[in-house]
Order: sequence, then C-alpha cells, then structure tokens
Amino acid sequence: MEPQYSLFVIFASLVISLALLPNPTTALSKCSFPAIFNFGDSNSDTGGLSAAFGQAPPPNGETFFHTPSGRYSDGRLVIDFIVLAWNTGFAAKDKAPKLSHHKVGAAETESYGLPYLSAFLDSLGSNFSHGANFATAGATIRPQNTTMAQSGYSPISLDVQSVQFSDFHRRSQIFNKQGGFFEKLLPKRDYFSQALYTFDIGQNDLTAGYKLNMTTEEVKAYVPDVLGQFSNAIKKIYGEGGRIFWVHNTGPVGCLPYVMDRFLITAGQIDKHGCASPFNDVAQYFNLRLKEAVAQLRKDLPEATITYVDVYSVKYTLIAQAKKHGFENPFVACCGHGGKYNYNRFLKCGAKKTVDGKEIVISNSCKDPSVRINWDGTHFTEAANKWIFNQIANGSFSDPPISLEMACHRMDR
Ligand SMILES: *[C@@H]1O[C@H](CO)[C@@H](O)[C@H](O)[C@H]1NC(C)=O
Ligand SMILES: *[C@@H]1O[C@H](CO)[C@@H](O)[C@H](O)[C@H]1NC(C)=O
Ligand SMILES: *[C@@H]1O[C@H](CO)[C@@H](O)[C@H](O)[C@H]1NC(C)=O
Ligand SMILES: *[C@@H]1O[C@H](CO)[C@@H](O)[C@H](O)[C@H]1NC(C)=O
Repeated sequence: MEPQYSLFVIFASLVISLALLPNPTTALSKCSFPAIFNFGDSNSDTGGLSAAFGQAPPPNGETFFHTPSGRYSDGRLVIDFIVLAWNTGFAAKDKAPKLSHHKVGAAETESYGLPYLSAFLDSLGSNFSHGANFATAGATIRPQNTTMAQSGYSPISLDVQSVQFSDFHRRSQIFNKQGGFFEKLLPKRDYFSQALYTFDIGQNDLTAGYKLNMTTEEVKAYVPDVLGQFSNAIKKIYGEGGRIFWVHNTGPVGCLPYVMDRFLITAGQIDKHGCASPFNDVAQYFNLRLKEAVAQLRKDLPEATITYVDVYSVKYTLIAQAKKHGFENPFVACCGHGGKYNYNRFLKCGAKKTVDGKEIVISNSCKDPSVRINWDGTHFTEAANKWIFNQIANGSFSDPPISLEMACHRMDR
C-alpha cells in the first residue's frame, strides 16, 4: 500500500468511526417535566412557613415581587429560577431575556405569566397544576426535640413534608376525578412519575446541634442518622412513583453572618476568605456523606435518576470571589441592624420598634441589593440566587455532569 493511500484509509476510517460513536448529548431530547415538587428549608421556601406561622415581613420581596412573597429574600430563590427556566421550555435561550444578575425587572414575569411554585400550605391563590412546594423555612431533615419557640426550627421537617406530599398525591387525584374547577388546579395522575423532585435541605440539621452546645465531633456523629432519614424520604417518594430527583448539597454555612455572629469562633478558625472553618468543615462532611447516600440510593432504587448538585462550591466561590463576580461586602447582611455583619438576631430584617407611639422599621434594606450576596444574615439576595442558578443549570457542578434540562436522562450507568 502506498504511504499516502494508507494515510487516507486511516483518516477515512477515523472519520467514519467518529460519526458512528453514539453522541449522548445530541441523541437525547430535553426533558419535559410536567411538574416540579420541591422539599426543603428557607433556601427554597416560597411561602410555606409564612402561610403557617405568619408572613415574612417587608422589606422581604422588595426587589422582585414588590411585596412580601413568603420568601426570605428581596426577590426570587434558586427554585424560582429553576421553575422559570423549566416554564420557558428551558428557554429558547436566544429569545428569553438574558438572565443577567444585576438587572431584574417585572418584564420577565409579565411575558411568561406567573410561573412560580405555590406553597402546599398556602390556601390562597395557589395553583398546583404543575407542582407544589413543601419546603418551609427553618426545616430540618430530622424532626427536632425542641419547639419552634425554643430553637427557631420549623416543625415541618422533611418527614412531615413527605407525609404532606403523600396526602397531596392521594387527595389531588380524588378531586381531579371530580373534574371542573379543581381539575385545573391539580396535577394529572401521570405527572407524578414524570415530575422533577427537588431537594435543598440539611443546613439546619447542622446548626441544630451547635445550638444545643454540641461539639463539632458530636455534630458529625449524628450526620449518618440525618442522612438515613433523608434517604428514607427519597425512598418513600420513589415508592409512590417518583423517579427523577435533583438534590442540592448544603452550602457553606460557616460563611453566613447568622452563624459567625451566634457561635464563638476564634481567629485561628477563620479561613483565608473570611469564613468560619469548623462550620464549613461540618458542611463538607455532610456533603461527602450525602454524596455516598445518593450513590447508595442509585443502587437501591433501580429506576431512579438522581442528580447531586454541588451548590456548596458555587456559593463558596461567590463569597470568596465576590468582587470578581460584581458583588461587594459578602459578609455584611443587606437587610439588618448593626454590628460587624449588620446582623442582630433579636432585630432581624424587617424588625420594628415603637418610637413615640409610632411603629418604625429599624432593620432596613441596604441601598442596592443587586450588588449584595447576603440578604438578611442567613439568606441570599435575588441577585446571588440568580448567579447561583446560572452556575448550576448547565450541569458543571452536577454528579453526573448533566444539566437541569437533561436531568431526566440516566447517565450514571
Ligand atoms: C429526639 O429524641 C429521641 C429520643 O431520645 C432521639 O432518638 C432523637 O435522635 C432525638 N432527635 C434529635 C434531632 O435530636
Ligand atoms: C393553573 O396554572 C396552569 C399553568 O400555569 C394554567 O394553565 C391554569 O389555567 C391555571 N389554573 C387556573 C384555575 O388558573
Ligand atoms: C449552652 O451554653 C450556654 C452558655 O453556657 C447556656 O447559656 C445555654 O443554656 C446552653 N444551651 C443548652 C441548650 O444547653
Ligand atoms: C456553565 O455556566 C457557567 C455560567 O454561565 C459558565 O461559567 C460555565 O463555563 C458553563 N459550563 C459549561 C460546561 O458549559
């Protein structure tokens, strides 16, 4: 064979074999989840705790909803951006308004209707036809042995959320059969097996131990029990037909003012970016174990598709490199009252005081929440949430590395 000819043959066969290789990204179509069901704490509560225990006060909601909206933020949460992206058909991306994190306006909602998830507990104006949100602020995975008044944790922990989901599943189908008005507000039977089930919970389980004066070792020791209960919740939903799960790991709680203000932290425990290492170490330990629990769930639940999303890294990067990403003062709450972190746990965002017989808000919002990361000492601003969403949506922080719009496709085996 002539050298030139053999080269041609090699080249041609290479081209052919490349063309024959299955290309998973082009072969698979975008997922058309008919519904989203969410479980979690304040990171994804769109009105649950507010419906049960009283509305998050103004200025919560000021940036986007222009009124309190049951969210602990000036605007939307990561779950809102997930629902928005899904609602816009995973955005005919060229047509959708660019989700730049600094300019947020009413225009986005107007053009798409109001596409956000109703809280299951909200009996007013809710529309569950395409999902429901069971998250409540202050929720833990494990039920706590303290009351909400004692410790601030929601009694609507993950096990309760999961019971509420079961009840919603069963009863929605009874009302659906009756037809008429209710049918328009409730999911169809087959939506439950095709829906996306999202989870963002665990942070409060970690702080709960510290509030009981436990040491870091003691907190770590109960993490396996917490994750056992998390796995049980997933198994229960799987048992009821749920198949597609999207699980956020827990964030760097040691970078948040409410933790840095509340617990004794020595200078040597502050890392080079300003976060409290012991608390972040515990969060990372939790995440390591969560990832293992997810791997085990994939074995135990043969038809489940579970995406693990490393929200920790995204949030940590945002805080550590705030300037680079267009933000300032990552450790100072936008809405709060005084102190190093503009955070006072007795005068939280929206707190009022009576002066000369008149009630005035003394825990106010900062001038420009769009350049701030921390909203109220505990939660993120809308601008930060949008940035976080943009990082996780394309799958670069997911295991397996699969985007939100492809999360129904099984890639791990
Ligand atoms: C609450 O108390 C029970 C009984 O002592 C115990 O098994 C459980 O682990 C406790 N839960 C938490 C969150 O501490
Ligand atoms: C509930 O929302 C869905 C989808 O957004 C919509 O098609 C339906 O008309 C709404 N139902 C009512 C009663 O408004
Ligand atoms: C934790 O320790 C503080 C300070 O010693 C004490 O005031 C508080 O009552 C303790 N809390 C619990 C739940 O034991
Ligand atoms: C995912 O999106 C982020 C934010 O837009 C971007 O920085 C990153 O390069 C993207 N990753 C991939 C794999 O496309």
